[in-house]
This record gives sequence, structure tokens and C-alpha cells, in this order.
Amino acid sequence: MMLSAKSLFQEIIDNDASYRLFCSIAASGETQGGWENGRIAALVPEGERALAPKIARHGADEDKHGRIFNALLNKRGLRPVRVPPETDYTMLLERHGIGLAHEKLKGDRPLTVEDIVTYLAHSRVTEQRAADQMAMLCAYFADHPEVGRAVRMISDDEDNHLAYTHEELLRLASAGHGPLIRRTLRECALAEIRVHRDVSLAVMAHMGRILGWPRARSAALAAGIHALYAYERLAGWRRMVTLTMPERRDALGGPATAAPEVA
Ligand SMILES: [Fe+2]
Ligand SMILES: [Fe+2]
Repeated sequence: MMLSAKSLFQEIIDNDASYRLFCSIAASGETQGGWENGRIAALVPEGERALAPKIARHGADEDKHGRIFNALLNKRGLRPVRVPPETDYTMLLERHGIGLAHEKLKGDRPLTVEDIVTYLAHSRVTEQRAADQMAMLCAYFADHPEVGRAVRMISDDEDNHLAYTHEELLRLASAGHGPLIRRTLRECALAEIRVHRDVSLAVMAHMGRILGWPRARSAALAAGIHALYAYERLAGWRRMVTLTMPERRDALGGPATAAPEVA
């Protein structure tokens, strides 16, 4: 790519309008994730009660991330903006039938074990994406005076979420749900890489307009996003569906850690 990811994000952070859009999109996705997990925790089936506090913690962490991104906006004296629907990753996944339907989560009927498998498989895939993206931001901006602390904290949480999904899916696989888990993971990963591509293209189109990028630069970025998708479609998706026992066990065992004053 003509443009490094670091200089790209640096440019987005440095400009108020692009930073505002970036933080608004992130805050909205995190908050939706928090709501989904909160509902799932409330509807856990009898046989999986032990999972309820971990799902609730997962939701509390995502809510906290939403607050952190809003606090970052506040700190710069900015208000969140409306998130363009084509950049709404969480909503687009739901619309593609990935994860649990919001209709189901708005109801009060308990979920089934199959629904829990769906939630965990969806999380295995999306938390991989989140963990990878936060690791990338951490590599570049861990010491950034404005966003460093937030980035480090969220990155650590996303690693916990990913570890937890591995551990719980392995537990359910050994309880006989292996075939369903494999099928669901595969479906989820193949849909996620497409949604991620489309959202990336949409976000970059908005950023390009805000930052006045020349046509060649936007074209190079779009080509990079298509190349990443081609790679993920060919081979990369497999990384999102493997299950290995994590080093961090029971990563969501305790209560959520409070967000120290990031703002
Ligand atoms: Fe998050
Ligand atoms: Fe997460």
C-alpha cells in the first residue's frame, strides 16, 4: 500500500472531523455489542447458568469501551455524530443473519444452547477482528498522549474476550456441540470478512471526503482493502475459526475493571 496504516490513523486522529467520525463509529459499535451481550446474559438457558455472569461481564466491558470512545470525543470538546448506516459493522452483521437476531434478544423467551453456540461463535470471529485491530492501534499509539491509555485498555479487554470465546467453545465442543460449532464458525467468518470489507470501504470513503484525499490515494486504499479481502477469502478466514485453549483461563471470571479516568 502507498500509505502506511500508522500514517493513515495518525491523519485521522489529527483532524477533528475524521477523529469525531472514527470515535463515533467505534462508540456506537461497542455500545451495540454491550446491549446484545446484556440481553444474552439475561436470557441464558437454565443449563448454562454458569455462563451468565461472564456474558454480563462481556457486555459490561463493551459498554465501557463505548464510554471510553465517547470520553475521547469529550476530551477534545467534540460531540458524537450520527453513524452512517453503511459504516455500522455491528448492525450490518446482524442484518446478514450473523449472531443472534435482535428480534430474539428483545423478547423474553430463554435462549437455547444452540443460541449460546451462535453467540460464542459470532464472538469468536468478531473478537478476533477487534483484538487484531486493537493490537495494531496499540503497536502504533500505545504511548500516544491522547489515545494511548484507551487503546491499551481496550486492547487488553479484547484479548480477554477472545480468550474466553476459545475456552467456552472448547467446553461446548467437548460436550458434543463440535459439528454445530464448526459450521457456525465457518458461516460467521465468511460473512464477517465481507461485511468488514464493505464497512472498511465505506469508512475510508467518508474519511477521504473529510480529509480531501486525492483520487489516487483513495484508489490505493480501496485496492488494499480488496486485497485484504481476497487474502482472507482464500486463507485468512481459517485463522478466525480455530479453537485453542488460551493461556488466560477464565478471562471474564471477575467483575469488570472500572475505566480509570481516560478522559
Ligand atoms: Fe470492545
Ligand atoms: Fe470485545
